[in-house]
Amino acid sequence: MAAQRGEFRSRLGFILAAAGSAVGLGNIWGFPTQAASNGGGAFLFTYLVLAFALAYPALMAELLIGRHTHRNMSQALGALPHHNGLKRIGMLTGIGGLVTASLILSFYGIVAGWMMGFATSYPLAAIGLTQSADWLITFSTPRNLTLTGVFMALTMSVVMGGVEDGIERWSRRLMPILIATLVVLSLYVLTLDGAMKGLSIYLRPDFSKILSGDLLIDALGSAFFSLSLGVGTMLIYGSYLSDNEHVPSVGAQVALLDVGIAVLAGFLILPAMYVADVRGVAIFNAAGGLLSEDTLIFSVLPALFDTMDTVGLWLATAFFVLMSIAALTSSISMLEVPVAYLIERHGLSRRRATLLAGTSIGAFSGLIALNFERLFGLVITISTRYGQPLLGIVVCLFAGWLWQRDALLAELKKNDAAAEQRWFWKIWPLYVKWVCPVIISVILVRSIL
Ligand code: TRP
Repeated sequence: MAAQRGEFRSRLGFILAAAGSAVGLGNIWGFPTQAASNGGGAFLFTYLVLAFALAYPALMAELLIGRHTHRNMSQALGALPHHNGLKRIGMLTGIGGLVTASLILSFYGIVAGWMMGFATSYPLAAIGLTQSADWLITFSTPRNLTLTGVFMALTMSVVMGGVEDGIERWSRRLMPILIATLVVLSLYVLTLDGAMKGLSIYLRPDFSKILSGDLLIDALGSAFFSLSLGVGTMLIYGSYLSDNEHVPSVGAQVALLDVGIAVLAGFLILPAMYVADVRGVAIFNAAGGLLSEDTLIFSVLPALFDTMDTVGLWLATAFFVLMSIAALTSSISMLEVPVAYLIERHGLSRRRATLLAGTSIGAFSGLIALNFERLFGLVITISTRYGQPLLGIVVCLFAGWLWQRDALLAELKKNDAAAEQRWFWKIWPLYVKWVCPVIISVILVRSIL
């Protein structure tokens, strides 16, 4: 069996694939605007602390369990405990992860379709095809269905290629383009009038906001979503990691890249908003807060690009291509979760597993698109607000309580003979045992009440 499983060819390939999963719409879109409306530098600071104090240990739990068992989440969690009842809970949790990952993909695919629509509409408008261009950027059910279908087909074609020739190859190609585009766009926007005001709002900390419970819930939610935690995405990527790699350090690099890119995106989005302000585009809502989420991406930024003529055309295209790439390297990691399960648990070929999982999730996206008002927000809430933290707690509990200490140490020693002396070994096991489950539970309960 083990020989048939995929394995990342290189450390860089793994880091780019896992960072590709982590870096997505959440980083470039969610993080900067949340920072802006939650105390600027104060949110940035809280986010950094939570990312390393809570999300990184949870990420390590997934990566280590994956690498140790070389299995999908359901079989991996089923393998850790000795007790049969607990094994069953582990397997069911894995299936919960698979369902949650599929739900996340079903709404993510719709949003990603919008990004692709905007990315193609600018060049089309430039060559005179204004009608098609308008159709692509105007909300309608046929448009949503078409673009989501195209995006899902793209995601499936990458996943069908397998770990090395699909996921790793495309992450290696796309991630450098993503980072370069983001850097170039931010540098350019920073030279424009108004940019410095946005930058100072982003970086100036308003510590009075830090103590608000909402800020903590938001920051933890973003950190969890951003690192793709809870649903078995990182677990399955970890399971394709070679036994020669030192998991604590590659995991840290993935977390650093993810956080780094979110922070970098702040250097683009907030300055861009204040550049738009200088040019007469409305950037505040009636309550005086910054416009965010879909209004920001699909109205404020396009209105800004419209004030810039030809440069605007290039910027807009680059920006939406960037968003589409970020979405694709994330969506493949979500689809890989059910696909790996179907292959390993039910013996399907990768092709069949991808077709089955991809078309089912695509069909569910279609259902959401047809009942947009009713389902879109609901699916997001169920999967990200409740599903992810709940599953995250179980994963930490399994790693902390049901994984024998010597087996865990043996796993760490695979490529680090001195693992016992490292701070990671001294801190992390206690951390996933107590700190992570308790804090995640507290924040989860608060967000429900
Ligand atoms: N982390 C990605 C983002 O920031 C999205 C993502 C990919 C994800 N895989 C996931 C979120 C699994 C939750 C669970 O956009």
